[in-house]
Amino acid sequence: MASENASGSFWMPPQASTIAGDVDALFDFIYYLNVFFFVAITAAVIYFAVRYRRRSDEQLATSQVGHNTLIESAWTFIPLILVIVMFVWGFRVFLDQSVAPDDAYEVKVTASAYKWDFTYDTGAVSGGDLIVPAGRPIKLVMTSTDLLHSFFVPDFRIKSDVVPGRYTTVWFNAPQPGEHQVFCTEYCGVGHSGMLAKVTVLPPAEFEEKLQKDFIDGDIPPAEMGKKLYTQSGCMACHSIDGTRLVGPTWKGLFGSERKLADGSTVKADENYLRESILQPMVKVVESYPPSMPSYQGQLKDIQIDGLIEYIKTLK
Ligand code: CUA
Repeated sequence: MASENASGSFWMPPQASTIAGDVDALFDFIYYLNVFFFVAITAAVIYFAVRYRRRSDEQLATSQVGHNTLIESAWTFIPLILVIVMFVWGFRVFLDQSVAPDDAYEVKVTASAYKWDFTYDTGAVSGGDLIVPAGRPIKLVMTSTDLLHSFFVPDFRIKSDVVPGRYTTVWFNAPQPGEHQVFCTEYCGVGHSGMLAKVTVLPPAEFEEKLQKDFIDGDIPPAEMGKKLYTQSGCMACHSIDGTRLVGPTWKGLFGSERKLADGSTVKADENYLRESILQPMVKVVESYPPSMPSYQGQLKDIQIDGLIEYIKTLK
């Protein structure tokens, strides 16, 4: 494995997976090869343009050069060899990156507009936060419930489309504990840019402990659960809690307020209104906002909806 560059470089994010160094080495090879030929060819063009410029009319159409086997062989075989090197090297890194080791720990990833859910072998589901043990290969088996998304962790140098109706996989091994950003990198709708998640790499013992305890929302107060769901269920992609206008209305001061709807009527934002808006968002669309919220019917349990409502009540 190539050496780790934990802090990244001017061009590149940190190398936080075992594959990252290999990917970057290949990238650097192709990049600097291109820089070399770009400079060499540009210099040659300028040199020849000056050296062999037309000095008088008699020089027109007087070149006797027809064929040069040595030069033609050189410009055929040198690029051929370089392209073969790129292909073989690239294919090997691609295989390393595509085929997960047999002992990899598997996590199911479910993408939906506009959130990521991670399901572990214990049945625990963690929304918005992929938590993994350090130093162990992790295989992600990914699918989408609605449309095309793409799972991208720059620090790990992994990226894969996530497609409805089929499974795609990626794997990584993050040797050090830390936090890494996940992006959706396939334009999927109004909440695309907010479709974020985090990979939290924990020391193995801490991971086991968390897996047993924290992933099931047990006895925490409803408002606190709602606060967690706000990030985990993707609400934050479209709803701010500080009054900022995003794709959807802010939650600040929402509870108890009068809502002006697209059809001209008004309605008070009470518990029933909030519950209906979570489960059937198209029934009462607030004026001047796009009717773009997905339904959370079947995705949130009643206790979780209660939690969200309690959380919204705290946002005065
Ligand atoms: Cu999901 Cu873009």
